[in-house]
Amino acid sequence: TWKKAGEKVALVPTMGALHAGHVSLVDAARARASRVVVSIFVNPTQFAPTEDFSAYPRTLEADLARLAVVQADGAFAPSVAEMYHKHAATTVTLQGPAAAGLEDRFRPTHFAGVATVVAKLLNQAQADVALFGEKDYQQLKVIARMAEDLDIPTRILGCPTVREADGLALSSRNVYLSKEERARAPALHRAMCGAAEAISQGAPVAGPIAHAVAEVTRAGFVVDYIEARHAVTLAPIVSAAEGPVRILAAARLGKTRLIDNISA
Ligand code: PAF
Repeated sequence: TWKKAGEKVALVPTMGALHAGHVSLVDAARARASRVVVSIFVNPTQFAPTEDFSAYPRTLEADLARLAVVQADGAFAPSVAEMYHKHAATTVTLQGPAAAGLEDRFRPTHFAGVATVVAKLLNQAQADVALFGEKDYQQLKVIARMAEDLDIPTRILGCPTVREADGLALSSRNVYLSKEERARAPALHRAMCGAAEAISQGAPVAGPIAHAVAEVTRAGFVVDYIEARHAVTLAPIVSAAEGPVRILAAARLGKTRLIDNISA
């Protein structure tokens, strides 16, 4: 009805457990469209069997209350059975940013699940624009590539990461952190900022990145990766002379896996 009336529709895809980062996406959507729809779906196909699908926080009532406060126009919270037909046999196959050797190295089936559900959500919503947080930087690149390659007419827009005052990127998974882990968690962002500073001043990436890995490990994390990549292509780089740089990281603190990225 909205589309027929000529209104512009924005979609904010989420897995719920909404926080201020999601609210910032709704606000950005509101600035670009007259109607804002938020989807809430904990997508099983993007979790490996060893990951936290069953433990993932589900707070639908609180999410809907929050969306009412920020005046989203619609929420779409399908069940798994509604989203995936029992005979579903189609997934999106990815290369390019999905094979950059970052998240895909540690979560080899993740992006196929993300891209498939996002393709479905974009088709279902028929929105003019869809907004995603830059916190999942590789995911944003994967989705933008997929939408372009599959001629999905929705514009894909990335929005800046929202952080706590101490630098920790907001994430629905931060609730897993114990009090003691929460106090140590900002070390990841701090180390990334140090590396970004050195790289932006011309240092070859290897030194500052090794330093950041050591610092984060000292803070008690198990580092999956901290890497400096070309911000557009995600290709490995040797120095900032090769183009805009993005530092991307994933590290585990106890049972919680944190990811983050910043520009250098
Ligand atoms: O970033 C997320 O919350 C999810 O990966 C997304 C894009 C909603 C797909 O399930």
